[in-house]
Amino acid sequence: MKLNQVKLGNQGLIVPNIGLGCMGMTGFGDADMYGKTDEKEAIATIHRSLELGGNFLDTADLYGPFKNEQLIAKAIEGNRNKYIIATKFGWEIDDNDQVTWKINGTKEYVKKSIERSLKNLKTDYIDLYYMHRLDKNVPVEETVGAMGDLVKEGKIGYIGLSEVSSETVKKAHAVHPISAVQSEFSLFERTVEEKGVIKTLNELGIGFVAYSPLGRGFLSGQIRSIDDLPENDFRRGIPRFQEQYFHKNIELVEAIENLAQEKNITSSQLALAWIISKGILPIPGTKRRKYLEKNIEASKIVLSESDIQKLESIVPLGTDTGAPYDEFSMGLLDY
Ligand SMILES: NC(=O)c1ccc[n+]([C@@H]2O[C@H](COP(=O)([O-])OP(=O)(O)OC[C@H]3O[C@@H](n4cnc5c(N)ncnc54)[C@H](OP(=O)(O)O)[C@@H]3O)[C@@H](O)[C@H]2O)c1
Repeated sequence: MKLNQVKLGNQGLIVPNIGLGCMGMTGFGDADMYGKTDEKEAIATIHRSLELGGNFLDTADLYGPFKNEQLIAKAIEGNRNKYIIATKFGWEIDDNDQVTWKINGTKEYVKKSIERSLKNLKTDYIDLYYMHRLDKNVPVEETVGAMGDLVKEGKIGYIGLSEVSSETVKKAHAVHPISAVQSEFSLFERTVEEKGVIKTLNELGIGFVAYSPLGRGFLSGQIRSIDDLPENDFRRGIPRFQEQYFHKNIELVEAIENLAQEKNITSSQLALAWIISKGILPIPGTKRRKYLEKNIEASKIVLSESDIQKLESIVPLGTDTGAPYDEFSMGLLDY
């Protein structure tokens, strides 16, 4: 089966118009990101995705750390060339596999990170390699220059950046053409649109990948109370899911669900179809086949102008749904 294929940027990368976010398939240290993980079901989800044409997988060395890339290696074994793999580096991980919670964008760290990711993914090339966060102490030109060397060496196909401002994108693109920028984007999170980043990407011919397109599950309507989240769930630390915002946000989710029902689709599908209608590529995360199949169906839904207007009047641009990260992580965004 083939999904709609789209150009991700102008450098030659072609991908299906929806990807598969793999982050939640493994925990982080001892904690789960989004509830209990199940390796067998996660691998089955990656295989089912390929059957349905969803061969664009998103991971990072940070996830686990390393466990996520290793899980993907296991899932794609024998079929490497059928998948398009995107991974990321930049959150510093030391030689004892401990995350230091610093960002490292030095050229030495780029060279070290790629070797680790190639080893963990059991491959000799990565299709799309992202700088996960900007190292504010290192000129982006140095980081992207080193990534450009990896392209020349054939270790990576294309270069991406994550959570960067227009100014950073322009500086980076002048050193080596950038194919994609990945940042959080959903009905609940439109900062990159408000800050003009999407406009800059369109001008430069760079693709935009929306991470957490379901608002980390909020827009699915499956989370009705904070108590629905397991004790060690990552989302409990995010203001958007906390007391002061939760109840207001649930009201928005209910209005989105009502509109979805009118169209005989789910709120997740409506949220994804809305992103695709903007020419943006969502990478919804799931660790189960049941959700994956629904999400892939969403990639074929075409919304009318009136659907889009109704949806955007429920959550107009600028709606305050609470911060998407705690204070520490907000400080690492480039805005
Ligand atoms: N660049 C970055 O800094 C960055 C940051 C965050 C994420 N990402 C990437 O973006 C990907 C997606 O983001 P995300 O996983 O954070 O958030 P998301 O895609 O907005 O939401 C994931 C959550 O939604 C649930 N879900 C998915 N499809 C559903 C459906 N059809 N019905 C009901 N629930 C559904 C999942 O449940 P289950 O888990 O139970 O299946 C999971 O709890 C990640 O996997 C990761 O690769 C990148």
